[in-house]
Amino acid sequence: MIELLRTRRSIRAFQDRPVAPEHLTLLEEALLRAPSSRNSRPCRFVLVQDAPTRQALAVAKPGGGRFLADAPLNIVIHGDPELSDVYVEDCSIAAILVQLQAHAMGLGSCWVQIRNRRHDASGDASSHVLRLLGLPARLEVVAIIGVGYPAEDKPGWRPEQLDPERVVRLES
Ligand SMILES: Cc1cc2nc3c(=O)[nH]c(=O)nc-3n(C[C@H](O)[C@H](O)[C@H](O)COP(=O)(O)O)c2cc1C
Repeated sequence: MIELLRTRRSIRAFQDRPVAPEHLTLLEEALLRAPSSRNSRPCRFVLVQDAPTRQALAVAKPGGGRFLADAPLNIVIHGDPELSDVYVEDCSIAAILVQLQAHAMGLGSCWVQIRNRRHDASGDASSHVLRLLGLPARLEVVAIIGVGYPAEDKPGWRPEQLDPERVVRLES
């Protein structure tokens, strides 16, 4: 596990080939195995591979998501506020677990923030994505994870780059 964490980075450049079916299956399993508060399972996941939909998702917000068009897999992670008051936390856990599973299999990924982001002056990014995918308006899209085989090589953060003073050990 610590080796995975030491080598994980956000990847935004991808090879032009689809995610292998066996990798897709394991990514789906990672999403479904994510824990949730009271086991309420308020998160849902849409795996998008078709290019026109990926291109539309890439412009769900003005900046910071353009690479989704070139990521062969977009995972749209959304939650149902009626099922849990902490669906954001639950969706975030599912997101990082699927990112780590992707990394474990040699895939790269990057989170695109959707919740609390604008699409344009007249609407928010989450509502835009829900409409695009034909999903009910009561849901909230937390993030879209772009996934694919990496076309960039980024070293893990070195220990001195981690700001270790953020962790305090209380001695009893
Ligand atoms: C909550 C959250 C939202 C993020 N939103 C975006 C985003 O919208 N676009 C993007 O390119 N990267 C996004 N990222 C990726 C961060 O920029 C990245 O994790 C950070 O710069 C640290 O780099 P690393 O993941 O390589 O360690 C997001 C990451 C998190 C955790």
